[in-house]
Amino acid sequence: MTENILELNNLTKFFPAKAGGIFSRAKGEVRAVDGVSLTVARGETVGLVGESGCGKTTVGRTVMKLYEPTSGQIVFDGQDITNLKRKEMKPIRSKMQMIFQDPFSSLNPRHTVGTIISSSYTIHDIEPEGGVEHSVRELLTLVGLNPEHINRFPHEFSGGQRQRIGIARSLALKPKLIVADEPVSALDVSIQAQVINLLDDLQKELGLSYLFVAHDLSIVQHISDRVVVMYLGKVMEMAPTRELFANPRHPYTKALLSAVPVADPKMGRSRERIILQGDLPSPVNPPSGCVFNTRCWKAQDICRTAVPETIQVTPLQTVACHFPEV
Ligand SMILES: Nc1ncnc2c1ncn2[C@@H]1O[C@H](COP(=O)(O)OP(=O)(O)O)[C@@H](O)[C@H]1O
Ligand code: SF4
Ligand SMILES: [Mg+2]
Repeated sequence: MTENILELNNLTKFFPAKAGGIFSRAKGEVRAVDGVSLTVARGETVGLVGESGCGKTTVGRTVMKLYEPTSGQIVFDGQDITNLKRKEMKPIRSKMQMIFQDPFSSLNPRHTVGTIISSSYTIHDIEPEGGVEHSVRELLTLVGLNPEHINRFPHEFSGGQRQRIGIARSLALKPKLIVADEPVSALDVSIQAQVINLLDDLQKELGLSYLFVAHDLSIVQHISDRVVVMYLGKVMEMAPTRELFANPRHPYTKALLSAVPVADPKMGRSRERIILQGDLPSPVNPPSGCVFNTRCWKAQDICRTAVPETIQVTPLQTVACHFPEV
């Protein structure tokens, strides 16, 4: 058995830039994901962070092969799935599942909870042990819902409960990896912690691995073992959660973290708020050299001409910067 459940090697996903749209002047492609390499170990939670538009969702959807990768390699559970066709992906799909951001649009309003959760069995032609209804009831109980509500419809549930239904559906086929794309950002703050704690408990109970996409860093800090920081389709920094939050080495990470309220006031005093100037550049025309150079306060000439190498600063921490923080 391989140590990693998921391995991405130099993964890219480009979309055609639409003519006539906001990119009408730019030729070529939207470089949504541009050479991402990362791993998720078995049982591990890897947080994928970065501001909106940096390519997080595209990574998640490409991993699931909902998008065909442009280049690079996806290895899942020891198998190279990069070029598998739709049909060949079917048995693999049951082992990797996605939880979506919006618990309202991701559940069919005309189907009962029972039908929604058992759809995985139908699609994959699987008769679960003890029968479908028994399994669905078990799944409802597992995610903290009342199994008696099996015949209710999505609109009869709150946002948090609906996200639990989505989680139950994703667990039906006993997946090994779950790609969670901002699974709590559409929920009330008061409900977020409950759903995060549920995901945490399920991981321990079922030995799941998570690729956890989020822009809320305090949630990522809570749930992740390691964090990958993306900017404009590229990985800027990667580190165990504690190291990343205690000692960010990439200027972009430092800027992101400076906006997070710190629980410990002693740390808060030493953390100066950095406000990034300007907007995220278009991924159709990314800046040359370091893609962050147009917004980085440390940028030198070399940053505008040479793409920084990814440096290993400790065995588990890497940073892509010519002048990393110390
Ligand atoms: N289907 C698509 N077609 C064209 N461009 C896309 C598509 N999906 C995403 N993009 C673009 O790719 C970039 C990354 O988007 P996304 O992966 O959704 O980022 P994030 O999830 O980090 O907000 C954005 O510039 C977005 O506009
Ligand atoms: S390489 Fe240069 S521009 Fe890029 S983050 Fe480092 S210092 Fe800033
Ligand atoms: Mg997204």
